[in-house]
Amino acid sequence: MGARQVIREARAKINVFLRVLGAREDGYHDLESLIVPTSLVDAVTVKDADALRVDVRGPAWVAGAVPAGGLNLALVAALAIGDACPDARGAEIVIEKRIPVAGGLGGGSADAAATLLALNELWGCALDPATLADIAERIGSDVPAMLAGGPALMSGRGELVAPAEVAPLWWALVHFEFGVRSPDAYRWWDEAGGPTGPDPEPLLAAATAGDAGAVGPLLFNDLEPVVFARHPQVEQAKASLLQAGALGAVMSGSGSSVVGLASGEEHAREVAARVAGAVVLSGPPAP
Ligand code: C5P
Repeated sequence: MGARQVIREARAKINVFLRVLGAREDGYHDLESLIVPTSLVDAVTVKDADALRVDVRGPAWVAGAVPAGGLNLALVAALAIGDACPDARGAEIVIEKRIPVAGGLGGGSADAAATLLALNELWGCALDPATLADIAERIGSDVPAMLAGGPALMSGRGELVAPAEVAPLWWALVHFEFGVRSPDAYRWWDEAGGPTGPDPEPLLAAATAGDAGAVGPLLFNDLEPVVFARHPQVEQAKASLLQAGALGAVMSGSGSSVVGLASGEEHAREVAARVAGAVVLSGPPAP
């Protein structure tokens, strides 16, 4: 009899806006952000096994950057759900990696969320969504939103998640082989007495309406200035996307990835063709 297995997709996210409200006593920052899942996915497969182990596969430039040991968020997720599930056993967790690592696209958080859902099923834990969300919050600030799956308005340190309605949008993505660690980006924001962006209400309304022309100029990320100051190539990527005809461009999360918004799929292909290394994404994915 072959081992049973469960497969889940882990979707990269884009922060359509990221507003940092201020530092908190617990070391985190209060924020507001609209995130959308995208067509860029990792595949997470879990199988019955004697012990817990994580195997990361994929192109060397992406898979090679993922820690397979204690810092791997999928392994952290497996240990956390194991504590909460009386039927927990071993499992082999295989991650087919395509999402750039530490690129502000939430890949590690998405892998962790997919691992929670897959092991809940493989082990027959039957944990309800609220319990899974509690576990997710302890793994990382972005994991509850990735668990929820759809477009979402995040607040608090990111763990408060409200579903948002966003029409399908098309993007050109520029990613780098280096990442930016979120603790660094937030610390730089503190040191700079960083900015807090505008009320996102007009942006949310435009995103719900699917009005890419109105969304483009409203995209913003309060972490951009401090990351651009240390990594000029990220600022350059934003300029290149705009020069290539994107309706707007913004860094995702704490970087290093940058996305340019297009009016549709064909326009996204035109923009991507004009920027070295750019790839086309939809987010939220077109049906
Ligand atoms: O929650 P997570 O482990 O992803 O956060 C990593 C680090 O990023 C935190 O320890 C903190 O330094 C920073 N962070 C923050 N405010 C947030 C989210 C993350 O300062 N809302």
